[in-house]
Amino acid sequence: MGGREEPAEDGGRPPASAEDVERAWNDTKLAQVLYHDWEAGSYDDKWSISFDERCISYARDRFSAVAGTDGWPYRRALEVGAGTGFFSLNLRQAGVLSDVTVTDISPGMVEAARRNASQLGFEIAGEVADAEGLPFDDASFDVVVGHAVIHHIPDVELAFREMLRVLRPGGRVVVCGEPTRYGDKVARALSRATWWATTRVTRLSALSGWARPQEELDASSRAAALEAVVDLHTFDPGELTALVGRAGFDDVYAVTEELTAAWFGWPVRTFEHAVNPERLGWGWAMFAYNSWLRLSAADRLLARVVPRELFYNLSVSAVRPE
Ligand SMILES: C[S@@+](CC[C@H](N)C(=O)[O-])C[C@H]1O[C@@H](n2cnc3c(N)ncnc32)[C@H](O)[C@@H]1O
Repeated sequence: MGGREEPAEDGGRPPASAEDVERAWNDTKLAQVLYHDWEAGSYDDKWSISFDERCISYARDRFSAVAGTDGWPYRRALEVGAGTGFFSLNLRQAGVLSDVTVTDISPGMVEAARRNASQLGFEIAGEVADAEGLPFDDASFDVVVGHAVIHHIPDVELAFREMLRVLRPGGRVVVCGEPTRYGDKVARALSRATWWATTRVTRLSALSGWARPQEELDASSRAAALEAVVDLHTFDPGELTALVGRAGFDDVYAVTEELTAAWFGWPVRTFEHAVNPERLGWGWAMFAYNSWLRLSAADRLLARVVPRELFYNLSVSAVRPE
């Protein structure tokens, strides 16, 4: 990570330099480490990640929607691409998992996850590890989980074969929060339009108090450039199911969630990044969250008639054969 400066005050790294971005274009795994190390310090704020009831129930609901509630708590749990621990730490608090080991290709993320766990008052194991080559013995875990991770992994089938290997026979894999092909296209188009409109409107002098400083907007644009390097895949539910089966799993099951909730959520998140954060208080946060909840409830009804490929959020679960 040559050319990097002192850590930023929030404990994360300074924004990737233009040279970093240039080098990362040619090396996906370097890009993953650069981008996610840099994000580690601000990641929880950026994605409104918390370890309270809001995110505990979100994590539990995503897990049970695809894998049911049998077998809780799973004793030996591994998370791949854990980031700051959003999924497994909240699943542990929900009583879904018991002994948690987090892994991530980014050292900064593993550090952040361990810090979050100790702030919550429990110990976890943490290792820097590439999901395509896990540093664990065969059959070491009862469950392997992942959230918003496999779209970053070059060889997704290899990663599932690794997850299969480290699971005990009868153990379960649960991967949630992956973008579908169509859902991602719509979300990105809405986000681009929101960014374009918000950054222009806030240049008006009457709205200057809403504008973000130009250097912060530039840093966001560089991050967006790196994001394009680290986001490798979007998925079709049927194709992902077939891939997980090819990796050796049984009982493969996929669900999709969030249609209108994603159409609302992505522009809202983009808007939040494009304006001065001091302008958005608690009232805004509650409006955004409650609207998302209401739309998610409507989406569950729509799921009866709308093709699953059109929804944004894809989860898959499967079992290692006995
Ligand atoms: C979008 S973040 C999601 C983090 C966390 N699971 C969450 O839901 O908040 C993706 C994470 O995957 C990690 N990652 C990317 N490629 C990886 C790989 N090949 N092996 C392991 N982790 C990887 C990144 O470093 C990053 O922390």
